[in-house]
Amino acid sequence: MPRVFSGIQPTGDVHLGNWIGAISRWAADQEDGHVFCIVDLHAITIPKDPEHLRTKTRDLAAWILAAGLDPEVATLFVQSHVREHSELAWVLSCSTQMGELNRMVQFKEKSAGKESVSAGLFTYPVLQAADILLYQADEVPVGEDQRQHIELTRDVAQRFNGRFGDTFTLPKATMPRAGARVMDLQQPANKMSKSAESDAGTIMLDETEKKTAKKVMRAVTDSGSEVRAGEDKPGVTNLLDLLSAVTGREIPDLEADFEGKMYGDFKKAVAEGVNEFLRPARERHAELSKDPAELDRLLAIGADRARNIAETTMDTVRDRVGF
Ligand code: ADP
Ligand code: NA
Repeated sequence: MPRVFSGIQPTGDVHLGNWIGAISRWAADQEDGHVFCIVDLHAITIPKDPEHLRTKTRDLAAWILAAGLDPEVATLFVQSHVREHSELAWVLSCSTQMGELNRMVQFKEKSAGKESVSAGLFTYPVLQAADILLYQADEVPVGEDQRQHIELTRDVAQRFNGRFGDTFTLPKATMPRAGARVMDLQQPANKMSKSAESDAGTIMLDETEKKTAKKVMRAVTDSGSEVRAGEDKPGVTNLLDLLSAVTGREIPDLEADFEGKMYGDFKKAVAEGVNEFLRPARERHAELSKDPAELDRLLAIGADRARNIAETTMDTVRDRVGF
């Protein structure tokens, strides 16, 4: 079985788009050997309030566990809990050329127009390479914007292997197995996102059922009164897609259910469907949030599992380099 590595930034609160598109999928696809790393070291490349970072890191872990990820099956851990990430990043930075980092498009984008930029933001791809290579990962599911970093990871690994002897598996970038794309309830042309101007179109996992229902009831619909999917009906289509994603039912069946009914009835069903779908996770998340010792215990299991692999790799690296 290929070893898969995924890094997840602990920034922002979880919304229904992240949940359906990513987090709930990780739990569904968990396999022995899949490594999920909450990358808090990466988060500080851009200044973060310490308490906020600590809270967000734990909160994201709680949501991933609430999705059903079993820390005895997959490995879920916090990057800063395994010191080898920083150590390998240093070693690899000495096998990385300035010119290679200068070519990284994401750095250019993130630093554009900024008055001051940290060296960490510049060397970020080296830390990312360390994350992946520590676990001898075969596959890294990433979006388009991250492919260049995986290429760099391969180049650096190859250079290191060439110089010091075979040490690292060369990983390859794969397409993430994504769930449905969820659109903004107020602007159905845009995807639901934490960076939307207003949160009226974004369903947050940590809001009350009442608030979720209110947002769905206020979602934009289209002219006419028919509940059917179509290009001329982006609002209703989005709600149908959403109802389909949360109930697992096909769009034509849903359209048939609401034939002759009003938008109001339809939205009520969507609101109930979404809340029912999220209820078990919201309950589990609330339990974990009330029991920080249990969350710590689960994260410690993950860190131990991760450290086991990371230490083996680092032992070889130290030896090869001459430490
Ligand atoms: P945001 O767009 O809110 O900033 P991120 O970029 O942090 O979200 O995305 C985190 C993960 O959630 C990614 O895997 C991304 O593909 C997924 N995701 C984000 N928004 C949506 C959405 N509206 N529908 C489906 N998946 C999404
Ligand atoms: Na984003």
